[in-house]
Amino acid sequence: MRSTYGTNFSLTLFGESHGPAVGFVLDGLPAGIALDLDNIRAALTRRRPSGKISTQRQEQDAFRFLSGFYKGRTCGTPLTFVIENSAQRSEDYDEMQFLPRPSHADYAAFAKYGGYQDARGGGHFSGRITAGLVAAGAIFQQILSEHGVAIGTHVASCRGICDRGFDWAHVNDDLSALLSPGFPVLSPKARQQMLLAIEQAQSEGDSLGAVLETAVSGLPAGLGEPFFHSVESEISHLLFSIPAVKGVEFGLGFGFAEGTGSACNDAFVALAPGRAVTRTNFNGGVNGGITNGMPVVFSTVVKPTPSIYKEQDTVDVRTGEPKKLRIRGRHDPAIFHRARAVIDAAAAIALCDLYFGRFGYLWARKEGPCVTV
Ligand SMILES: Cc1cc2nc3c(=O)[nH]c(=O)nc-3n(C[C@H](O)[C@H](O)[C@H](O)COP(=O)(O)O)c2cc1C
Repeated sequence: MRSTYGTNFSLTLFGESHGPAVGFVLDGLPAGIALDLDNIRAALTRRRPSGKISTQRQEQDAFRFLSGFYKGRTCGTPLTFVIENSAQRSEDYDEMQFLPRPSHADYAAFAKYGGYQDARGGGHFSGRITAGLVAAGAIFQQILSEHGVAIGTHVASCRGICDRGFDWAHVNDDLSALLSPGFPVLSPKARQQMLLAIEQAQSEGDSLGAVLETAVSGLPAGLGEPFFHSVESEISHLLFSIPAVKGVEFGLGFGFAEGTGSACNDAFVALAPGRAVTRTNFNGGVNGGITNGMPVVFSTVVKPTPSIYKEQDTVDVRTGEPKKLRIRGRHDPAIFHRARAVIDAAAAIALCDLYFGRFGYLWARKEGPCVTV
């Protein structure tokens, strides 16, 4: 049993949806990094529910550091970050305690922890826990951005409505627009249509899923390892750690099955001695598990929110009796637009681990040491 990620640092998420707090402990950052707290707040805002298509559970996400942070900089010792929960309504879950929600983690958690898990609001399996992941990711995104790396995610398709896709070989212009809060799409028309589709599902007590497309620009060629720590496997590891993520593909992904080598190969264009780019980017910026200097692009599918207001079949786990379930509580009819902040965070964490592996952890601090002995 392990709840920690990282080869070159250790990141542990903690908390339960209706417990006192959620957060993370991060060990392995160098001392002296000036943390941009507004950047963390902005990332948490991108994850936070807003508007009528979101849960009415409104958390302010006020945070503090319990350790490893002093006078605005990291100390190099374990960084403990806490967001206190304030808007729990546990009574909504009382009668559901032994009635697992279809497609949620309730039954799997019951099987694993034998009934000792905190099941209120999904406990440790709630989307609420991703607030800690987003905050940790924001720190790594700050580090990456200081090295010229940008990450952005938009909703590529939802219920047959498609947004304009990234130009995989030249993604830069689109990424800055995706830093703002709100529904993340590149085309205003897609935004309008998708919001209508979500409202329609909401009015029927139902929920929707979507495919999200992510791009990372500014990465050097040569990052990642050939097999077990490939760029794809590290990013996927983190993406599949996000609740409700059920599929990931890089570049053309499953589309490769329809093409030929001549149509799908990325032809090289010379830049300078020892440096080349590719004309297309069907491989999503990765070959042999290693970045090739093109933007890293991948798509992630987020399933429809499991907690819906339609009646569903379940069982009482105590008696084994079939039961009808009518869910109470506050749930989003769609979580994918909020998940984009979690996806950006996941990519930043995975990529920083690979950077630390290649350049050492002091790479993270752009300034040199302030004291030499
Ligand atoms: C940001 C975010 C918010 C979520 N909010 C909800 C929610 O309000 N209701 C719900 O049933 N599931 C929600 N989920 C999804 C569940 O946590 C997830 O589906 C569940 O843990 C089962 O895991 P799995 O889908 O990965 O199998 C959310 C997920 C994320 C990423």
